[in-house]
Amino acid sequence: MVQPPLKQLATICTSRPAPLPTFFFVIIICVLGFYAFHFSSSSSFSVTSSPRNSVRFQQLLLSSGSNYTVASYLRSLTLHPHLAGTEPSSETVRYVESHFRDLGLETHSIQYDALLSYPKSTSLSVLFSNGSVVNIPLSENVEGVVQPYHAYSPSGTVYGPAVFVNYGRDEDYRELAKMGVTVVGCIAVARKGEFPRGVVVAKAEANGAKGVLLYTEGDRFRQGFERGTVMRGIGDPLSPGWAAVDGAERLNLNDSEVLKRFPKIPSMPLSAESAEIILNSLDTASVPPEWRDKKANLRSAAVGPGGPIFINFTYQGERKVATIRNVIAVIKGLEEPDRFVLMGNHRDAWSFGAVDPNSGTAALLDIARRFALLRKLGWNPRRTILLCSWDAEEFGMIGSTEWVEQNIVNLGTKAVAYLNVDCAVQGPGFFAGATPQLDDLLHDVTAQVQDPDVKGATVHDTWTAENGIGNIERLGAVNSDFAAFVQHAGVPSVDVYYGRDFPVYHTAFDTYDWMANYGDPLFHRHVTVGSIWGLLALRLSDDLILPFSYVSYANQLQAYKDTLNHLLDGSVSLRTLSTSIEELKSAAQEIENEAKRLREQETSSDVALFQKRALNDRLMLAERGFLDVDGLRGRPWFKHLVYGPPSDYESALVYFPGIADAVSESKEMNKMGLEELIQHEIWRVARAIGRAAAALKGELS
Ligand SMILES: *[C@@H]1O[C@H](CO)[C@@H](O)[C@H](O)[C@H]1NC(C)=O
Ligand SMILES: *[C@@H]1O[C@H](CO)[C@@H](O)[C@H](O)[C@H]1NC(C)=O
Ligand SMILES: *[C@@H]1O[C@H](CO)[C@@H](O)[C@H](O)[C@H]1NC(C)=O
Ligand SMILES: *[C@@H]1O[C@H](CO)[C@@H](O)[C@H](O)[C@H]1NC(C)=O
Repeated sequence: MVQPPLKQLATICTSRPAPLPTFFFVIIICVLGFYAFHFSSSSSFSVTSSPRNSVRFQQLLLSSGSNYTVASYLRSLTLHPHLAGTEPSSETVRYVESHFRDLGLETHSIQYDALLSYPKSTSLSVLFSNGSVVNIPLSENVEGVVQPYHAYSPSGTVYGPAVFVNYGRDEDYRELAKMGVTVVGCIAVARKGEFPRGVVVAKAEANGAKGVLLYTEGDRFRQGFERGTVMRGIGDPLSPGWAAVDGAERLNLNDSEVLKRFPKIPSMPLSAESAEIILNSLDTASVPPEWRDKKANLRSAAVGPGGPIFINFTYQGERKVATIRNVIAVIKGLEEPDRFVLMGNHRDAWSFGAVDPNSGTAALLDIARRFALLRKLGWNPRRTILLCSWDAEEFGMIGSTEWVEQNIVNLGTKAVAYLNVDCAVQGPGFFAGATPQLDDLLHDVTAQVQDPDVKGATVHDTWTAENGIGNIERLGAVNSDFAAFVQHAGVPSVDVYYGRDFPVYHTAFDTYDWMANYGDPLFHRHVTVGSIWGLLALRLSDDLILPFSYVSYANQLQAYKDTLNHLLDGSVSLRTLSTSIEELKSAAQEIENEAKRLREQETSSDVALFQKRALNDRLMLAERGFLDVDGLRGRPWFKHLVYGPPSDYESALVYFPGIADAVSESKEMNKMGLEELIQHEIWRVARAIGRAAAALKGELS
């Protein structure tokens, strides 16, 4: 059952019992808006969003947020668990589609058939040396939620002694080796750290383990199991690099390209509570003090293997092709319909998905409501805005990746920016990630939005007070839907959210009640994320000159170069990198001066508009310069040479992934002669930065 969305303008306007002044303001705007609407529809010329008008619509966007509507959307979206490819997931497709349609937005859905993975049966028992067997329950006993599993784990039964491997990093295995402990033929028990599950399993496999049990520490919700994917790479494994549409080429399941993305040993998530049963029974070697899980109250400090206990676990599952759907609403731009500002959030969830991801979906639906209101009041964005609801993100960003692959040429030539929100609200505190040309815009926009938790302060005030400068993360990881946009298509992107590290992550307890009790009791943080997300889209779609700063990009690259210099300790020359960064800096400064001149221009003649559009194109295309046709070495899908995941998750560099790989390789191999490889990767990055600078300059040589 889904709730009927709001249909009437009157309801849209008054859906929040707002504080009185705001309430009247909204009513007045509604009334004025009706006149504007009638006027514009009866006159022959269209309403153009001049900068002055834009400010008015920005105010309206801010004042029309409603914690009541956003809460009701979240309630409807989280009535049932809705794992990708299942029937309850289709219900959420219909809910989102009819919400957009009922608001009068042009809406369509796109279907792909992708390889997903589901469990059939699992079991885990612990065999003690005195002969007693303890069966560990692998369920949270919540009706309708898929049993805990790792998507794409191979099926199998494994039996062997257990070894605690801490986070399962290389350094942990080295530490074990020092203690004389090996995991060959054992079952690795690891606690979840920073890097992806698939990497933990791959490292255990490489060290000879037969299977992996991965638990999540925590002092609350200790019965929760963290589900997740262990697939490496991104997108549908059977159509790597192209869209999984009906009739498309599909690789065989036994193709080496497909096989290399899956682990060969089975793995499973454990709750903190069940992990404790195992960890408390291990002995043999002493655990290093920093390995101790303080919250788990471990009785003995031990890593195993064996001693008194053996583990027997079975995972039986199936990988099967299932249908997934993205839902997209389009708000056509009036003056530049062929320039796209994309807003996206995934809809599929491991369980009820109140935080992950439907706090974001609720915010997206509330933005749709606010945009529909603005449209009724005469707003037409200058550029086209797309509201995108992605599917199957949890399996490996599949819905968004297939869509990016399908639209690669049009995105490459026409996408202005992609604005992502995944888990919109996890708790208190604002966080943001972005490609650096959008840093300034993030600062601007957050300074316009009231902090939901601190009276009289803006989000910007508290954000910058908490970590000094308003620390902005970069988008090189493959952990949400921005990955394909940034790392494959080179589209400038943003990612925003409230709170982090929430305790019910990927468990059956990620429910509406958790949100209403802990995550966001009055739903004001949801409204705030919606306001920031919506304002970013308004600015990017309405500003005559795109609000991008490449000076900020060049400064960021300069800082990366300095760190790299330190890391390489003079063993490799960075001269070429310095030169290209200088080139980008001067091009960035030049275009900023040009932009300033054009902004001050009074005339709106055709010539002036074309000049602005030409300048915007240079700003839009500069990010594409960082792409390289050949992509990263051995991972050609990853085209971006500044942001992407290094192969080695313990790399000291979280940018320049190609250089990072070369550096790790040279360390690992302890080989001479790899300076050449590092040097070559530095050259590639330098050329990429040079291409970005050339795009900013916009002239042929
Ligand atoms: C066997 O050992 C386990 C773990 O030490 C203990 O919990 C259990 O009660 C023992 N069973 C018997 C039958 O002694
Ligand atoms: C791979 O799978 C295809 C079809 O599923 C089959 O025809 C082929 O023989 C298999 N190849 C190998 C090497 O197993
Ligand atoms: C391990 O568990 C499986 C499935 O429950 C069972 O069939 C098998 O006999 C067990 N193996 C051992 C050694 O206990
Ligand atoms: C919305 O905010 C108001 C004011 O803080 C609060 O009284 C109300 O309970 C909130 N509504 C919801 C659904 O949380």
